[in-house]
Amino acid sequence: MALWPRVTAAAPSTLTVNPIIYNIGKRFLFSLDPETAHGLTLAGLRMAEKTRTLSIIAPRTIDDPVTVMGIKFPNRVGLAAGMDKEANTIAAFGRLGFGFVEVGTLTPRPQPGNPKPRLFRCIKERAIINHMGINNPGIDKGVENIEATTRFNGVLGVNISKNKVTPNDEARMDYLACMRAAWGVADYIAINFSCPNVPNLCNLAKAAPAADLLACLKSEQANLTNDTGRYVPIVMKVSPDMDEAQINELAQVFMDSQLDGLICSNTTTTRKGVENHPAAARSGGLSGAPLYDRANETLEAFAKAFKGSIPIIGVGGIMSGEDAVKKIRAGASLVQLYSGFIYNGPKLICDCAKAIRDMK
Ligand SMILES: Cc1cc2nc3c(=O)[nH]c(=O)nc-3n(C[C@H](O)[C@H](O)[C@H](O)COP(=O)(O)O)c2cc1C
Repeated sequence: MALWPRVTAAAPSTLTVNPIIYNIGKRFLFSLDPETAHGLTLAGLRMAEKTRTLSIIAPRTIDDPVTVMGIKFPNRVGLAAGMDKEANTIAAFGRLGFGFVEVGTLTPRPQPGNPKPRLFRCIKERAIINHMGINNPGIDKGVENIEATTRFNGVLGVNISKNKVTPNDEARMDYLACMRAAWGVADYIAINFSCPNVPNLCNLAKAAPAADLLACLKSEQANLTNDTGRYVPIVMKVSPDMDEAQINELAQVFMDSQLDGLICSNTTTTRKGVENHPAAARSGGLSGAPLYDRANETLEAFAKAFKGSIPIIGVGGIMSGEDAVKKIRAGASLVQLYSGFIYNGPKLICDCAKAIRDMK
């Protein structure tokens, strides 16, 4: 297993989710403003992990090892970026059964993100609209938090991006700075160039700037591998808001650059499935059930172009084990959860990992 040296193995939890505790907690959290609920949830998870009480609500950890990008994952279900933005709750998410945790997005300097309110639940639609704007404590603090993590036995992805104030033509410097800082602690590094909440960021995903950026990253990856004797895969995270021509162009860039992996996808700026919700008029990216088909279509298009040459992490709208299985069938090697975890709780992790393990 690809682990950095400070981490010691956690004993897998064996209890199942306690539905009474979970439902009381969920009702309370959903009565709060979403961002307050998020902060409280993470603080509660950290406390429960620290006091070793998390196993009371933790689902059974599914053991289904798989090697992807040269990394051995304990199972195929991971936590998507944006949940643990500060990289300080990793062990708790591992305890809940995630085979891998992607922290961040982290940028070179700390940034506050967009003005509040910037996070909205569409409960009936099982969706979220977020306009967070990559609020984060900065890469140095993130790495410090990772280094302080103990009792995590999964795979760690570090998701990085540029600061909002950095112009796109200088973006590479920000990605390179974060990559150097994260190199020693990350099992893989994810490049976020598809967040719809940072002005113009998605312009970097056009073929020419993407090729330039990737050339820089791959060259630095070679240097760092040479210096440290350790290879850390680079994974690009794409938007679901691209047409077929753009997908094919980008897929060619990724194959030409020998990209290590792809995450498909980030949130969408479309509002299909939440048209009648008051929050639909808000700026931001839509995630959850309404994103599912769109993210899968994008995944299938990349999978078709890659023909197995680049592994894909499928994310977007997974609400059940069956949804996770369909992502694998569409061409993903691994999956990630975010909104489904908010709506369905930790049981979803186990459901997905089990459904994938048992798929025919
Ligand atoms: C509140 C919120 C914050 C997010 N922040 C990030 C982020 O910082 N970086 C990133 O790459 N993706 C971020 N995402 C996108 C998720 O990682 C994921 O790609 C997206 O939500 C689709 O998955 P889902 O439908 O399971 O939620 C965020 C999503 C949400 C809902």
